[in-house]
Amino acid sequence: MSNDPKKDDPSKSWRPETQLVHAGALRSQYNETSEALFLTQGFIYNSAEQAEARFKNEDPGYQYSRFGNPTVSMFEDRLKIFEGAEECRSTATGMAAVTASMLSYMKTGDHVVAARAMFGSCRYVVETLCPRFGIDCTLVDGKDLDQWRAAVRPNTKMFFFETPSNPTLELVDIKAVCKIARDNGILSIVDNVFATPMLQRPLALGADIVVYSTTKHIDGQGRCLGGAVLCSTDFLTKYLQDWVRQTGPAMSPFTAWIMLKSLETIPLRIKAQCESARQLADILPTQSNVTRVIYPGRADHPQAALAAAQMPGGGQMIAFEVAGGKAGAFKFLNALRLVKISNNLGDTKSLVTHPATTTHFKLTPEQRAELSISDGIIRLSVGLEAAEDLIDDVTTALAAARS
Ligand SMILES: Cc1ncc(COP(=O)(O)O)c(C=O)c1O
Repeated sequence: MSNDPKKDDPSKSWRPETQLVHAGALRSQYNETSEALFLTQGFIYNSAEQAEARFKNEDPGYQYSRFGNPTVSMFEDRLKIFEGAEECRSTATGMAAVTASMLSYMKTGDHVVAARAMFGSCRYVVETLCPRFGIDCTLVDGKDLDQWRAAVRPNTKMFFFETPSNPTLELVDIKAVCKIARDNGILSIVDNVFATPMLQRPLALGADIVVYSTTKHIDGQGRCLGGAVLCSTDFLTKYLQDWVRQTGPAMSPFTAWIMLKSLETIPLRIKAQCESARQLADILPTQSNVTRVIYPGRADHPQAALAAAQMPGGGQMIAFEVAGGKAGAFKFLNALRLVKISNNLGDTKSLVTHPATTTHFKLTPEQRAELSISDGIIRLSVGLEAAEDLIDDVTTALAAARS
């Protein structure tokens, strides 16, 4: 047997479902079955010498939960092994993960290029926060490779995009865009929230960094906020590590425990949710007051071929347009009995959003038009209820919106 515990770690060769149940587990002296929750801020040293050695990184072990915690490490290791990343650092929210991955690396005088169709808070970070610190930004149509190429400047340091995008499920060709980045010495960050780790592997497609709001499908049950950054050891040690240690966006041990246990069931949840989403996405076009359905698993998605190439499954998010603009959309929303109105997504409970008046209300009408977010657009996050009950609820509410 080798002395290198990593060398003997079989978890890297396990199949994904097995990794999500077992990888990264650390057992205490009690040999518990379910991973322990180390709800502690600090750690005690056996001697002054040990404290000194630990601060000098000469003695392995924990110092303070802002720097690291065994339960948090278990979550990070499980996600890292599953994603095939060298490193993972978790954060208190998805936005902390996005901000940390950008601001730990860029400085005044740098330039970032991002796909215009992105979550509102990410847009704030790129469009408002970065320029405030002297980092220029260019927004492009993520679908258009020429725009990515044309946006590159000598000082461009990062590409940022989400795919599928929120809320209109536009796709970015991960392989092609990350190649443009790599050819120009630029790091690419993919926000993989909508696809989930089950349906899209950006690192395998050439991305340098993957970020998650683990608030969404990783928790998957609407309980805790969280985030994660997956990256190389080089990026972690040179940039991210100090940022997360010193600026303090740490994930709490309790949240990490929730996320760790949730990873065990994510394959089952996503599979069931995608199956119900597919059924709903096929029913919607048959409804006379649905004027548009956007679902990456349908053959009529404008980028169906790309979806099939980079996402093995259509996902659990659907966007569709209800006739009658805001009034039609509101009538539909208010007639729902089972599906709940919320700006959140990725829950076991099906949730529905009117982006124009909530998640994207801060954009100007012109900016919304540019992203095809009309007043009739609805975003539906499909949960774990019986598909038949969801179909009944959605079709009954659509009928009410017609009357
Ligand atoms: C695509 C995307 N990225 C990032 C975030 C931010 O995540 P959090 O709310 O956990 O900060 C969200 C949240 O809705 C999101 O939808």
